[in-house]
Amino acid sequence: MPPPAHLFIITGASRGFGRSLALALAERPSPSSFLLLGGRSADALERAAADVRRAAPDAAVAAHPLDLSDASALPGLAPLLAAFLPAGPPSQPPLSLTLVHNAGTLGPLQPVSAAPHLPDLLAATTANLTSYMYLSSLLLSLLPPEHVPLTQLINVSSLAARKPFPTWSVYCALKAARDMHLSTAAAELHGGSALRGCLSYAPGPMDTDMQGEIRGSGTCDAGTREYFKRAKEGGELVDPDVSAAKLAGLIGGKIGGGGYETGTHVDFYDV
Ligand SMILES: NC(=O)c1ccc[n+]([C@@H]2O[C@H](COP(=O)([O-])OP(=O)(O)OC[C@H]3O[C@@H](n4cnc5c(N)ncnc54)[C@H](OP(=O)(O)O)[C@@H]3O)[C@@H](O)[C@H]2O)c1
Repeated sequence: MPPPAHLFIITGASRGFGRSLALALAERPSPSSFLLLGGRSADALERAAADVRRAAPDAAVAAHPLDLSDASALPGLAPLLAAFLPAGPPSQPPLSLTLVHNAGTLGPLQPVSAAPHLPDLLAATTANLTSYMYLSSLLLSLLPPEHVPLTQLINVSSLAARKPFPTWSVYCALKAARDMHLSTAAAELHGGSALRGCLSYAPGPMDTDMQGEIRGSGTCDAGTREYFKRAKEGGELVDPDVSAAKLAGLIGGKIGGGGYETGTHVDFYDV
């Protein structure tokens, strides 16, 4: 089988924004795309993969369930990714490789002064940050950017990476750390003949399960919860399909030779 021209790996693609992005990327007119979708729920992942196949019959899709909050499972990603990456001489790698770090959890919502629950803190850190850093490095080591005409690292970020929200210290800190890790990758990958793109994209307040969790949380700051409740009731939350189309446009623009300035943080409302 010839290697795919464009290889996309999307974490957290079983539902919400990740699923929307998988659909948006698959529907873009590019020959021979291959999408590898991650998430915990095998059933939801298979449904998302089936939706992508229906929407874009030319795209190849595979789903692999994995819990990114389980640090002991992370080394198992090496043989998994190697199985999906084309082996052989540098002439065989895909034209483009795009890793979209989308999986995310709110983690514990509570004041910094509240008694910490270490297992929750560790799970949030592993799911949102440790696995993020591990996966980027693993992929770049397995398929070095100098062997691929275009490598893109995409961090699905948040306004919370830049603005503190009371009781969201864990989420805010982890999102801010992801942004800085991506900026560092951009500084390292700068230069050379191959194209590299590193982007932090804040997708806007979207009408997904995560917003439902905020509205239903008994520990979230009341003012923040009310703000998002009103946004939901007023129809002001962003449709994840609309936000995903914007990010797919930025990713596709880079594949087309334009796109975004590498190493930057771009917000939904600025695109
Ligand atoms: N919704 C918003 O308002 C908003 C705003 C700004 C930024 N964001 C960011 O956008 C991204 C997507 O959010 P969303 O709103 O689509 O959230 P969502 O509806 O809660 O979906 C989260 C996705 O991440 C996966 N996931 C969660 N924990 C995981 C784990 N431990 N291991 C592997 N996969 C895991 C989920 O799949 P499984 O349940 O199958 O594992 C699901 O596919 C996140 O990074 C979030 O921080 C969201």
